Order: sequence, then C-alpha cells, then structure tokens
Amino acid sequence: MEANRKTKALLFLFSVSLICLSLSTCHVSAYAYGRRQLRFNNDGRFKILQVSDMHYGLGKESQCADVAPAEVPYCSDLNTTAFLRRTIASEKPDLIVFSGDNVYGLCETSDVAKSMDAAFAPAIESGIPWVAILGNHDQESDMTRETLMKYIVKLPNSLSQVNPPDAWRYQIDGFGNYNLQIEGPFGSPLFFKSLLNLYLLDGGSYTDLGGFIYKYDWVKTSQQNWYEHTSKWLEMEYKRWPFPQNTTAPGLVYLHIPMPEFENFNKPTEMTGVRQEQTCSPPINSGFFTKLVERGEVKGVFSGHDHVNDFCGTLHGINLCYAGGAGYHGYGKVGWARRVRVVEAQLETDQYGRWGAVDTMKTWKRLDDKNHSLIDTQLLWSKNTTLGMNIGFRCPMIPQH
Ligand SMILES: *[C@@H]1O[C@H](CO)[C@@H](O)[C@H](O)[C@H]1NC(C)=O
Ligand SMILES: *[C@@H]1O[C@H](CO)[C@@H](O)[C@H](O)[C@H]1NC(C)=O
Ligand SMILES: *[C@@H]1O[C@H](CO)[C@@H](O)[C@H](O)[C@H]1NC(C)=O
Ligand SMILES: *[C@@H]1O[C@H](CO)[C@@H](O)[C@H](O)[C@H]1NC(C)=O
Repeated sequence: MEANRKTKALLFLFSVSLICLSLSTCHVSAYAYGRRQLRFNNDGRFKILQVSDMHYGLGKESQCADVAPAEVPYCSDLNTTAFLRRTIASEKPDLIVFSGDNVYGLCETSDVAKSMDAAFAPAIESGIPWVAILGNHDQESDMTRETLMKYIVKLPNSLSQVNPPDAWRYQIDGFGNYNLQIEGPFGSPLFFKSLLNLYLLDGGSYTDLGGFIYKYDWVKTSQQNWYEHTSKWLEMEYKRWPFPQNTTAPGLVYLHIPMPEFENFNKPTEMTGVRQEQTCSPPINSGFFTKLVERGEVKGVFSGHDHVNDFCGTLHGINLCYAGGAGYHGYGKVGWARRVRVVEAQLETDQYGRWGAVDTMKTWKRLDDKNHSLIDTQLLWSKNTTLGMNIGFRCPMIPQH
C-alpha cells in the first residue's frame, strides 16, 4: 500500500513537471513562431497581399452588392473566391493578410465557421502563410470575437494569434493583436534578425457612448502599451550584437477600422488612389497615431472598412492606406472593380553583395477587372528619404511667434 502511494505521488510529480515543461516550451515556441516562420526570399524580397472586407456569406447563395444589373444573376461569393485565386496566382505573395470583415454574419449565416472555411479557402489551398484580424461585422453571427480568433488560429497555414504570449501583462483589449517578424534570407548575415515588423491589431467593433448611438471602436491604451513595449524590444534586438544596426527596422500596421487621421486627405493632390466616401473612424482619437509618430518605426498603416476608398496619403512620415473592398457580397460601387492591396519590401546589399536591411517598400493595387489591372504603384518608403529628413537646425529658418 505504502509503496503504491509513493509510486502514485512520484507519478503525479512527474506528470506535473512534464506539464510545466511542455507549458514553458509552448511559451517559448509561441514567441519563436511568428519569428521563425517568415523570412525574406533569396531575391531579397517580401510581398504582402492585403485582402479586406470579403464579407463572405453562404457562398453561391449570397448575392453580389453593387454590380451591374445584368451581372446580378451570375454573381455571388464565388466571385470573391475566384478573384482571390486569380490574385494569388498572379502576385505569388509571401504572406496574405485578411484585414477584417472577412465574413458577414448579420443574421444570414447560422454557421459562421463554414463561411470562414470558404472565405479563407483560396489562401489555405495555396500553401502560403496567411493571417487574419477581425472587423466590425465578423462576430454578428454564432461566434464571439474570441471564438472566431480561436478558430482562425487553428486553420492550416494560419500564423494568426488570438493574442500575444505576454498579453496578460497589458490586460490587452480585444482578440487578434499580434506581431510578426520577417527575418533576413537564409545565408545572409541578418538571417536571425527581424528586418520588417508587422503589427496586427484588433480595432474592435462598436461602442456605446450613451444615447444608444453605436459608434466604431478605437485602439485602446492597453493595445498601444503592448505595441510600444514590443516595438522597443524589437529595436533592442535589431541594434544588438552581432551585426548591430544603427536604425530601427521599418514596421507596418494592419488595422480594420481606420484611425481618425485618415480623415485628413480630401484633395486628389494629397493622395494616390481615390476617396469616394467619408472615413468612418472612431469618435475618439485614442492617440495611436501619436504613439506611432513618437516611435518613428511604422511607415504604413493599412485599413479596410470603407470599401470604396482605396487611397494612400502621407502624414508626418506615415502612410495611411486603404485596401479597398475585395468582396462582392459587401457594398461597392457599380463600375468600380473590387480590389486588393500589395506591399513589397526590398532589401539592400552591402559592400560584399550580401543582403542587408530593408531599402525600399512599394505598394500597388490589383483589380478584379477584365485585365486584372495593376494600378497606382508608388514608393511607400525608402531608406534614403529618412536620411534626407535629417535637416540641421538653423535659427533664421524658424519664424518667431
Ligand atoms: C462572377 O462570376 C461569373 C462566373 O464566372 C461570371 O460570369 C460573372 O461575370 C462574374 N461577375 C462579376 C461581377 O465579376
Ligand atoms: C553605423 O554607423 C556607423 C557610424 O556612422 C558606421 O560606421 C557603421 O557602418 C553603421 N553600421 C551599419 C550597420 O549601418
Ligand atoms: C485592357 O487592356 C486592353 C489592351 O491592353 C486595353 O485596350 C483596355 O483599355 C484595357 N481595359 C481596361 C479596363 O483597363
Ligand atoms: C538611394 O541612394 C543610393 C545611393 O545614393 C542610390 O543608389 C539609390 O538609387 C537610392 N534609392 C532610391 C530609392 O532613391
């Protein structure tokens, strides 16, 4: 009896330590996950395809909004699927980012998991790593935002995370806040450093500020604190021995609901692309843009939400870009093709011809028109521009106030 009890106690201790061991490896590998999975190509490039506002419903049964009347009988969610397949084949991206309103709950779908399976299918079958964040419509069916993200992280080739491993420290708001690190090509000196940092944030859905008027949610202080901490940690890693770098690696943010600063662009001369509707941003400016300017790391913020805006505008050195709507079941504009946005980063070479830091980042859009047009190619950022901004201070240049 006594021996038996001892064995049991030992077995218990053994299993507890096994659990602890596996938990701690889980923690470590969760951190390493985004880090080890993504890497610049051997040609020093990394291409990100942003697909926003698919508003996927029931597949064949879900009709298209805002297409020519003659097209209505032949148009459904399946056209969104076809567009996505076509774009993946032509662009061959290294990562696909679904930036929210991926599915359209709204009392239509009783099985939103099925809608998600169909919506993400072209990405899954391509074998390309992909991630998703949520918009304001995704949870309007039989899953909460938490269960939606828990489902998304388990789909094949999904690098999405419900929240970062250290989220508890920030008591982070929302579901689907995480960071992805893109390392140097294999064989290059910077193969173990992150050369491009992506921040995916949950922009929330609606908020009731009183008066029963629901407004769009904003990026919370907890999320900004997590961003700041992660960004500083990545900067430290980047500047650390071996191969210490002098600057910070560039970063990009993906966030469904545009921040209030997107409202700043109205004249065609201020933007590449078009504004065809008002920016539907949160009623409160929570200061996320200020935080980004202070950190100086993020070069572009990529949103969706407003389907018929597809412009990029620059404010204080940060590009604020819309993707434009990709889905046929969501609203659009007759005669204005559904579209997606691509970002491509290119590395520089050092004096020995080895791959170094990010040199330039470009962006363009792909349309689902007859020609599958590629439009509005623009330089988002180059290393040169940043260096050029370092103007020396001279007193007479500053007028007195
Ligand atoms: C949707 O797909 C069908 C079948 O391929 C096609 O005939 C139709 O023209 C498409 N509609 C639009 C608006 O692209
Ligand atoms: C960092 O700056 C120093 C001094 O300006 C320079 O000598 C060095 O080459 C730079 N290192 C890198 C990786 O750019
Ligand atoms: C498609 O390409 C053809 C041939 O280059 C061109 O004539 C036509 O204007 C293009 N159509 C659109 C919608 O861009
Ligand atoms: C950046 O500067 C280098 C050296 O002056 C030049 O060769 C390169 O073309 C510049 N790149 C851009 C994008 O302007």
